[in-house]
Amino acid sequence: MGTPALALSGIELHYGFVRALDGIDFHVEPGEVVGLLGDNGAGKSTLLKVMSGAHRPSHGTIHVHGVEQSFHAPSDAADAGIQMVYQDLSLVEPQDIATNLNLGQETLRRGPLGWLGFVDRKEMRRTSEKELDRLGVRTAPMTRPVEMLSGGQRQVVALARSAIRVNGESQGILLLDEPTAALGYEQTKNVESLIRRMADSGIAIVVVTHDLPLCYEVTDRIVILNRGRKVADLPTAGADRDHIVGWITGSRPSMFAEASA
Ligand SMILES: Nc1ncnc2c1ncn2[C@@H]1O[C@H](COP(=O)(O)OP(=O)(O)OP(=O)(O)O)[C@@H](O)[C@H]1O
Ligand SMILES: [Mg+2]
Repeated sequence: MGTPALALSGIELHYGFVRALDGIDFHVEPGEVVGLLGDNGAGKSTLLKVMSGAHRPSHGTIHVHGVEQSFHAPSDAADAGIQMVYQDLSLVEPQDIATNLNLGQETLRRGPLGWLGFVDRKEMRRTSEKELDRLGVRTAPMTRPVEMLSGGQRQVVALARSAIRVNGESQGILLLDEPTAALGYEQTKNVESLIRRMADSGIAIVVVTHDLPLCYEVTDRIVILNRGRKVADLPTAGADRDHIVGWITGSRPSMFAEASA
């Protein structure tokens, strides 16, 4: 085992009196896909938000490729090569697909107009189309406003945006919060193969999902949270489905019971 792409140790986070995360250790290697499972309210989204710099833990450390990091905002995590696709998508609805794909890093026009901050929409559409083709995901014409897309199409745009950004990084880390929750069969398959291809290119991926078949299809390892604690961490290959469900629902004792007792 080399240096993990992302490693968290002893993470604690409270929302008021709610202990959302209780001593979480977690890591993901370059090129590895880790499935983060757990029932509603288990702490999955909260843990991803700690990894993405959206929430600051009250205790614990975060290392990115072996270097300790302290994130004060998602932009700090982005600077460290971490991209997150949120469960509640963050798209600008009246803007078109190309603009949303380039949000925050718009291509400016060449020459004086660019110096004045004018955006080159034609160029952005052209490169966006190329990127989406390369990723193998196509949703709708680039000029269509996001508010006119279906929930599933929006999900694909949000995923593609992060995929494009993280692809520019040789050591990128991609965090996905229920990326296929709103998707039909074919788009789910597209997202599965996109996740696999990105991991094969060396990107470390953490995917939160309630979809066990997807988990078996794309992940290398499964980590399960139950009420803010890590209760299981095991390779996907050979993982028993009934055991997984038992850890998710809490009917099966934690793999780490002795360690935390
Ligand atoms: N902003 C918040 N303020 C207060 N409590 C919160 C907040 N966000 C989450 N919580 C609480 O923290 C706990 C973990 O929530 P989290 O959203 O991480 O769960 P989850 O595992 O992502 O669940 P789901 O599968 O439903 O998305 C829950 O008890 C939840 O009620
Ligand atoms: Mg969640």
